[in-house]
Amino acid sequence: MKFLKVVLSSALIALLASNVALAEIGVEKDPLAPRVPPDLMEEAKKWKNPFDSTPENIAKGRALFQGKASCFTCHGMDGRGDGMAAGALEPGPRNFHNQGLKGKSDGEFMYVIKNGSGGPGAMPSYAPGIVTEEEAALIILYERSLHNIK
Ligand code: HEC
Repeated sequence: MKFLKVVLSSALIALLASNVALAEIGVEKDPLAPRVPPDLMEEAKKWKNPFDSTPENIAKGRALFQGKASCFTCHGMDGRGDGMAAGALEPGPRNFHNQGLKGKSDGEFMYVIKNGSGGPGAMPSYAPGIVTEEEAALIILYERSLHNIK
């Protein structure tokens, strides 16, 4: 009887542990916490977007995001962090419809696009390589345009 109890309780612990692990996959982690290392933050924030946030430039950024830049595969077509690969990622990709992201600078976004977000299973570097820095700047305008949309 005691043996059965031990078996049952360890099965329960294993089940709970696997549920916890499953629950974390694809879920965002501290979306508003900085991703730029503290010693590089000042430098990152100096970067200013060379493009104005006009409807034309936002549309160019959206076309890249939803097309050749392939951001949509993880971030989703509408930037809600629900792309087809999102479920396999830990931490989950950023949902750009988060008003709190207004507190981050374009330079911080550019840093992540260039260097990745750090850690295994996180976002890899996309510029230069998949996109040029100019294309990334246009994509940032699109991502920013989503912060106010529910
Ligand atoms: C392979 C999946 C994947 C692709 C493709 C991808 N990302 Fe990400 N991205 C992530 C993940 C995961 C995170 C969240 C990482 C974290 O929370 O540390 C993220 C976070 C970000 C952030 C948030 C940075 C911050 O400070 O909060 C930006 C900006 C970003 N991605 C831009 C892009 C752009 C632009 C593209 C396309 C050029 C792109 N991503 C393509 C997975 C991806």
